Amino acid sequence: MNKQEAESWVAPHPPDGGACYRVLFWQTHAVCQQTFSVYKHEREAIVARMRDAGARGARGVLAEAQHQLQSLNRDICRQALAFCTRAQDMRVGELRAALRSDAGVLGYRLGNAAAEVWLELTDEAGVDDHVRRWQKALPDAVWCEERIVELVPLQEVVDMQRAAHAAGAECATEETTEVSDFCHTTVLLQEAVDALQASEGKVMVDVTLGGGGHSERLLQAGASVWGIDQDPQARAAARKRLAGYGEKLHVLAGNFREVKTLLHSHGVDEVDGVLADLGISSPQVDTAERGFSFMIEGPLDMRMNPALPRSAEDIVNEADEAELADILWQYGEERASRVIAHRIVQQREHGRITTTTQLANIINSVLPRKGRLHPATRSFQALRIAVNDELGALDELLSDGLSLLRSGGRMAIITFHSLEDRKVKHFFERVTKPEIDRPEWAQPRPNPEYSARSVTRKPVVPGEAELAANPRSRSAKLRVIEKL
Ligand SMILES: C[S@@+](CC[C@H](N)C(=O)[O-])C[C@H]1O[C@@H](n2cnc3c(N)ncnc32)[C@H](O)[C@@H]1O
Repeated sequence: MNKQEAESWVAPHPPDGGACYRVLFWQTHAVCQQTFSVYKHEREAIVARMRDAGARGARGVLAEAQHQLQSLNRDICRQALAFCTRAQDMRVGELRAALRSDAGVLGYRLGNAAAEVWLELTDEAGVDDHVRRWQKALPDAVWCEERIVELVPLQEVVDMQRAAHAAGAECATEETTEVSDFCHTTVLLQEAVDALQASEGKVMVDVTLGGGGHSERLLQAGASVWGIDQDPQARAAARKRLAGYGEKLHVLAGNFREVKTLLHSHGVDEVDGVLADLGISSPQVDTAERGFSFMIEGPLDMRMNPALPRSAEDIVNEADEAELADILWQYGEERASRVIAHRIVQQREHGRITTTTQLANIINSVLPRKGRLHPATRSFQALRIAVNDELGALDELLSDGLSLLRSGGRMAIITFHSLEDRKVKHFFERVTKPEIDRPEWAQPRPNPEYSARSVTRKPVVPGEAELAANPRSRSAKLRVIEKL
């Protein structure tokens, strides 16, 4: 989703002619209480007018009131869907999967806290049953008890399809990448940017440019930014978003493990700040074709850089059982790693495992769901880390990032799981200790790696407001050091 629009989707062959239901439902926080009570009040008044006109047989008045009701509904709908431009929930992946797997759904528009769905008329289960099922896809969300259901012409679905195509055509970029859907809520934005002390004249490198959220703030503070990302879609989105900053932004394609070489090749030997916001962006998770999510059917890919030679499908189908088990254990801390690896190897004798849900079902068959965590969560994390060699790249970034900093420069790293965080924590401890002590030594000795001071004694984590607005931030941890 981009900043202005909710995501639209239309089933491949919506039927011609006739009518369908149009359903709007939303999370309570997507429409403010006051707006909603004004809406309800106006709706009651219009419905009373309609009743009265119906009783009197006043067709003209009735038609006018119906028209008013429709535009009132459209307004509230627009407001609910526009919520994605303000605070963002961004857990729409699950809801999207539920809508797309519902055979009655002809199309939808989906914001972060609301959905507008066109539903076939012919369904006997009733609209409410459908809505309840869709809402279950986001079990923690607080849904508004009210919903709007209207009978509308099927032409609406066709019109939406046309509009979606037209928007897509406008989105081609120099990287020939679709950027209309790139919507990532930046995590620990203020905290990271404050920690880096960006200001006019400073040079920053954002090694995980993504949609450019952090970089935008660094640029606003007056710094110039070198933005690196290995994902062409992210680069295209960031370029588009930050186009107004002209020469102050330089976007580079590459892996952050090569940050030093990349900057050197552009004549940059020192910087004032290094920022990394590790992991994947929401558009990467939510795009079925990228294959990162076990909730959405897609090819088993998981490459952040589409040019990488080995995808998750290659690993799942070609690694031997011991290697598979090691990957699941080391990168996913999956206790059932051996059992899962064994089942994968058994299953692939019947044919290649090619999709995300195929793999998720295999894992589910040996590891039934307990609690809130989906049984495939750890295995998918493990495969993603292996495919992109995320931990190896992080090691190189930490040491090269520090060596790029000029005295007084800062490095800020945001992690999302314990394996990454442990690495950052240990590296930061190693370089911020003036001395090392060992039991076999008579006294502590100077630490040859000592070159920085710690800025954050404890990791900085998102506050309540951020957690409420963006639950995906829940495992984020920010650590910062300053070069001596
Ligand atoms: C969490 S997102 C960053 C979001 C960004 N801070 C923002 O506010 O929009 C992480 C990004 O880092 C990129 N990335 C992850 N590992 C990388 C690596 N080793 N080298 C280059 N880019 C990487 C991903 O492709 C993704 O776009």
